[in-house]
Amino acid sequence: MTSSRIGTPLSPSATKVMLLGSGELGKEVIIAFQRLGVEVIAVDRYADAPGHQVAHRAHTVDMSDPEALLAVIESEAPHFVVPEIEAIATEALSVVEDRGVTTVVPTARATQLTMNREGIRRLAAEELGLPTSPYAFADSVDEVRAALEHTGFPAVIKPVMSSSGKGQSVVTSADDVQRAWDFAQAGGRVDLGRVIVEGFVDFDYEITQLTVRAVDENGADESFFCEPIGHLQKSGDYVESWQPQPMSPAALDAAREVARTVTAALGGRGIFGVELFVKGDDVYFSEVSPRPHDTGLVTLGTQRLSEFELHARAILGLPVDTTLLTPGASAVIYGGLDEVGIAFEGVEQALRVPETDIRLFGKPESFAKRRMGVAVSTGPDVETARQRARDAASRVRPVSAR
Ligand SMILES: Nc1ncnc2c1ncn2[C@@H]1O[C@H](COP(=O)(O)OP(=O)(O)OP(=O)(O)O)[C@@H](O)[C@H]1O
Ligand SMILES: [Mg+2]
Repeated sequence: MTSSRIGTPLSPSATKVMLLGSGELGKEVIIAFQRLGVEVIAVDRYADAPGHQVAHRAHTVDMSDPEALLAVIESEAPHFVVPEIEAIATEALSVVEDRGVTTVVPTARATQLTMNREGIRRLAAEELGLPTSPYAFADSVDEVRAALEHTGFPAVIKPVMSSSGKGQSVVTSADDVQRAWDFAQAGGRVDLGRVIVEGFVDFDYEITQLTVRAVDENGADESFFCEPIGHLQKSGDYVESWQPQPMSPAALDAAREVARTVTAALGGRGIFGVELFVKGDDVYFSEVSPRPHDTGLVTLGTQRLSEFELHARAILGLPVDTTLLTPGASAVIYGGLDEVGIAFEGVEQALRVPETDIRLFGKPESFAKRRMGVAVSTGPDVETARQRARDAASRVRPVSAR
């Protein structure tokens, strides 16, 4: 298929895209594709996921099961398979990529390397020579102790396969090691046992450097950069993000150089969220998601094309534009209660905050700490926008609908 040709949905000429993972980020990617006249198939592990509700077709599949994943891809035969989550059977993606009929976004290898902290860290630090925290891998408590000789204290211990901060803790002395090891074993996604021990980086701030690999004016793949996004993390999840994060020219250059290097090495087309720690003019690579990043929800309000629209364009082989229109911020709206089918009050009051939008994701089940929505605000400067987003998010009240 000529990549820049788009057919008619639900007809034999349709350009078909399958999302693997259809949460709030997938939902926005789907909407972006829908606007370009693409036929979209949404897959998630549970029914009525946010993206299911806006796609042409929806499937409920255990995506960690390689046979189930292969079966759904084969049954739909999409032109593009777009993973939105980390926890999937990436071996199935390699199989369909090898057959050459489906493009895996950005590539099967990129999804495989980035789902395991060992894969991406060794690529970034050992092959590409990018600056990172000191680190070592460990398969037992004794090996953690040995690793700590190398990293020093404090250090962060993480399962190699986990996200959203699961199983991750900081150790400040040898007394913490057993507890951190046990916590990592309980929090890892699969029973690998292996952890990464990372020296704690005492950063001034951390950013997401959204980077989109897309065609340039000559048709060659190139990295394009969004303005840096600053964010605040609490117990493994982002609670606020803003754009642009002010940076020194040297740090901004370094951030883009790191992002260019790692995204070019991973290859393929699409958006990447490159997570970086910044101290003075020094930039440390932390990790990278080969897909839209949650902190990038702010781009729904700030950029001419959101990270989701950039992703859709890049995947289809279309030109991109990373222009920032205005400073802005996002603040997360949590579920607050554990219940199926909750309701939200105060949306009207929230939308009285100037230059503010609310997105409610439509998740069928709420948990106290589940992200159920987001407030996105703009303003003359980042501080004003942050205040507005926080204010708006706090006015939305999840309530029982029983
Ligand atoms: N070596 C480190 N030094 C200092 N802070 C760290 C370090 N590693 C992680 N953190 C803090 O913990 C947060 C989460 O870490 P990391 O991104 O590695 O975990 P994760 O489980 O992949 O999270 P997510 O999936 O939300 O990105 C970072 O954004 C940062 O705030
Ligand atoms: Mg992270």
